[in-house]
Amino acid sequence: MLRVGVVGYGTIGKRVADAVTAQPDMTVAGVAKRSANYEAATAAERGYPLYAADPDRAGSFRAAGLVLAGDVDDLAAGADVIVDATPAGVGAENAATYAAHGTPAVFQGGEAADVAEVSFCARANYDEAVGAASARVVSCNTTALARLLAPLDEAFGVEKARVTLVRRGGDPAQTGRGPINDVVPNPITVPSHHGPDVGTVLPDVPVDTLGLKVPVTLMHTHGVNVTLERPPEADEVRDLLAGESRIALVPGWLGVDGAGKLKDLALDAGRPRGDLWENCVWADSVAVRDRDLYCFQAVHQESDVVPESIDAVRALAGTATAAESVARTDAALGMGLSFGAPGYGDGPTGRPVSVGVDGATADD
Ligand SMILES: NC(=O)c1ccc[n+]([C@@H]2O[C@H](COP(=O)([O-])OP(=O)(O)OC[C@H]3O[C@@H](n4cnc5c(N)ncnc54)[C@H](OP(=O)(O)O)[C@@H]3O)[C@@H](O)[C@H]2O)c1
Repeated sequence: MLRVGVVGYGTIGKRVADAVTAQPDMTVAGVAKRSANYEAATAAERGYPLYAADPDRAGSFRAAGLVLAGDVDDLAAGADVIVDATPAGVGAENAATYAAHGTPAVFQGGEAADVAEVSFCARANYDEAVGAASARVVSCNTTALARLLAPLDEAFGVEKARVTLVRRGGDPAQTGRGPINDVVPNPITVPSHHGPDVGTVLPDVPVDTLGLKVPVTLMHTHGVNVTLERPPEADEVRDLLAGESRIALVPGWLGVDGAGKLKDLALDAGRPRGDLWENCVWADSVAVRDRDLYCFQAVHQESDVVPESIDAVRALAGTATAAESVARTDAALGMGLSFGAPGYGDGPTGRPVSVGVDGATADD
């Protein structure tokens, strides 16, 4: 059993802790929290030993009746692997503590690439992290791009990818984030950091990204254009993506017209916290014009890096191959949305199904 310490128990950390619990070969050694708030109470309720991320605040835990097992140093000493899910930049400050104990550490995408020996996405470069002392799981957007571009590059060769990322303004619990009523090019410079970040896990796939922020908390949405070396039929692309365990091809007949219904579908499916660990690619959006492939995909920012973090733990510990780890993670989490009917892109009659908004059809 790998004992995994989770430092930072917020949006990502709490999901990672639950995902660790779901694995047959891992257990939660403890979680480190800074504030004695509702998330700390949840961690205690779930039986995760609590550690103080900031020893100066330990008194507030005691005052709330929350028992502390120690601090981050103690957690690093007692864990086989640490997953650091603290806010951007804090992981870099914590790195020396993990290294001092010789405890391998998984960092998150808010950190600069040089926080770890290797940047990581299981589909792209699992093997590079095997036996390393540290890995950085790339950000939610970068993870989704790497998952999509890796199989496309293998099957058809990617000459160049251009992606517009419509990014959620904040997570549901981030009351202080915006924009509230705006559409903001962010960053205003091109490319955004996401394209170069893909290069840390897929160095041979050229991709330029443009970023915007919009006032939603649900998911990111990517408008994707990939120039391929060997152009396929659209159905070949759908078949390829349907074969990827961490891509859900969303058929038109479901009537899922946006991120809102995707999240509703996840809740209906009984997903914990309504999480969607998979890239959600609209099957009807897949189109090929000459050598250019187009599609839309939605990315659940709160959860797509969670299975990657689990795989990164096994890679650092050297306890599984890429195929073994991905299969084990996916099975334990319940990855894969089953839509109960064949023909993701075609309706029962074999004609393309187009589900529009408010009754609009493709002819409108
Ligand atoms: N949220 C996303 O959409 C998303 C997606 C992919 C990757 N990431 C990356 O994942 C990492 C974590 O992001 P998040 O969204 O999960 O952040 P978050 O929700 O703000 O959670 C951060 C956690 O770290 C704790 N913390 C704060 N300061 C700390 C410190 N000095 N030492 C130890 N712990 C501290 C916080 O505790 P308190 O609440 O008690 O202060 C909280 O439990 C970042 O690198 C981020 O870029 C985030």
